[in-house]
Amino acid sequence: MRLAVFALGLLFAAGLAQAARDEHSYAEPDQVVVRDLGLDIRVDFGAKQIRGHADLALEWKNPKHGQLVLDTRDLSIDKVLGKRRDSGWYRLKFTLDKRDPILGQKLTIKTPRPYEVIRIRYRTSPDASGLQWLEPAKTAGKKAPFMFSQSQAVHARSWVPLQDTPAVRYTYSAHVETDPGLIALMSADNPPNAPRDGDYVFRMSQPIPSYLMAIAVGDLVFRPISERAGVWAEPATVDAAVQEFADTERMIQVAESLYGPYRWERYDLLILPPSFPFGGMENPRLSFITPTVIAGDKSLVSLIAHELAHSWSGNLVTNSSWKDIWLNEGFTSYVENRIVEALYGKPQAEMENVISLTGLRQELAELKPAQQTLVLDSAGADPDDALTAVPYTKGQFFLQFLEQRFGRERFDPFLRSWFDQHAFGSVDSATFERFLATVLLPQAPEAVTQGELDAWLREPGIPKFAQLDTSERLAAVDAARQRWLSGKVAAKELDTRAWITQEWVHFIEGMPKRLPGQKLVELDQAFRFTGTGNGEIAQRWYPLAVRSGYFEARPAMAEFLKQIGRRKLILPTYEALVASKDGRDFARQIFNEAKAGYHPITIASVQALLDRPAR
Ligand code: BES
Ligand code: ZN
Repeated sequence: MRLAVFALGLLFAAGLAQAARDEHSYAEPDQVVVRDLGLDIRVDFGAKQIRGHADLALEWKNPKHGQLVLDTRDLSIDKVLGKRRDSGWYRLKFTLDKRDPILGQKLTIKTPRPYEVIRIRYRTSPDASGLQWLEPAKTAGKKAPFMFSQSQAVHARSWVPLQDTPAVRYTYSAHVETDPGLIALMSADNPPNAPRDGDYVFRMSQPIPSYLMAIAVGDLVFRPISERAGVWAEPATVDAAVQEFADTERMIQVAESLYGPYRWERYDLLILPPSFPFGGMENPRLSFITPTVIAGDKSLVSLIAHELAHSWSGNLVTNSSWKDIWLNEGFTSYVENRIVEALYGKPQAEMENVISLTGLRQELAELKPAQQTLVLDSAGADPDDALTAVPYTKGQFFLQFLEQRFGRERFDPFLRSWFDQHAFGSVDSATFERFLATVLLPQAPEAVTQGELDAWLREPGIPKFAQLDTSERLAAVDAARQRWLSGKVAAKELDTRAWITQEWVHFIEGMPKRLPGQKLVELDQAFRFTGTGNGEIAQRWYPLAVRSGYFEARPAMAEFLKQIGRRKLILPTYEALVASKDGRDFARQIFNEAKAGYHPITIASVQALLDRPAR
């Protein structure tokens, strides 16, 4: 009976999924699909501009459709041409609609015939939301400029006119010209020994969705980690990065042993300047990585495991719209944690899960119920804002729940076949529920109930029946914090010699919202938190300092906020600052100085905080 009801529910869900379209794209992939992209562009640092042309090879589902609709944002379109196989180029008419602040401008090209190739000549704006142009002073070497893209979620359209939806995949080639002496890299094949002459060609022969389009240009060098893995970075950073990320090849091997061969040939890391707005971005063959995870003791390398894991969950099997982002990020967080467990042991994996749980609980306290479900009705207006801990951590914990109930001996092969059977495809939550019902459930029909699945997928919060990880090491940290708070021991008497980042993070996170000034002074004298080079610690320490009115931390805090542009690290401190009038003024002042060095995505997030009415 239970199964029958379940099957009905699935049919219903499948019907809904078919009707759904990507609400963050104007494209009409049911009429015509881009299959290959040929880029020929110049990266011009003087003008902060990419210009050139994009050739889109099309597959017409409806040859009579008469138009090609693309996504753009702040692009200048100079000319559009269409080509048929047996004839030359025809100039085509096009219109650009009014600009929507989140979706950009709809580009409609009139196509009286189903052209096989459409060529668009275009230029980007110096304020393109998906690009950051850095003055030499904002790089590690301070001599050469730097430019990089960040396309996820809907920013590819600000540097290439595309069907900017994860439901469409295409292959691409590119010819990129830039200043001689600078190296250009893309989410494609990056020959380590290309001559540094400012003229580069790339090919990505596996079909990818548009949010994985990526480019970076700067004074970059390459060092291998293994035959197929290596690091690209500025000369000043590369050695520290190679040391920190030396386990990358072993991570690939662990993932392969669980989920099948790595399908993208090379796996390289590109270390960006500190203004990179994210921790990492899984651009295929070349993950983009913040330098703030180079802690010196490998304690933050789970970020590499995460971006690598996307080579299966996300890049190979892709959420078909941002509503289903848990299929990318939840699966990836789960795989990340399996890699961490295999390489660094269960205690390390448990510490990371407990810290994730703390973060999830904090966010759940603020989120509306509709934002707390894995299956979302809408990804909201701006998909950059859908980036909560829910798809990441609740998604991960849901997969851990399935793993516990079915056992790894069933669950691991199940996940592997999920990746194999949907490889190079797009999926939604209904696809996953069907796959679960047909492949996993029959192996142990009593293992879970439909009610339990619904609680994870469609109800807010963390299900009460969830069995979440605990950590002995972090329990010891709780005990240490408690002894100090109750005055039983002085901070410097705590035995913290063997603590790594996660223990420090947990130590600070468990503090009361505010501490008396002299308690902060004591902590700071014992552990020197103020001025720490560890962004995960700074991210928690400065907000505590702000809430507690510990003004001594301000100069170092300001430095931190100006040096780093990674959103997750700096937003909590801005958020704590804007809670008071004086703090808000201080935050404004820092932001004004830092803004020129921030990425457009970070500027938007900080600006939104500063504009928020005081609570
Ligand atoms: N793909 C994400 C980054 C992303 C998501 C950018 C959505 C834009 C929209 C990336 O894989 C990621 O999750 N990065 C995390 C690190 C991770 C260890 C949680 C980050 O940047 O903090
Ligand atoms: Zn991710």
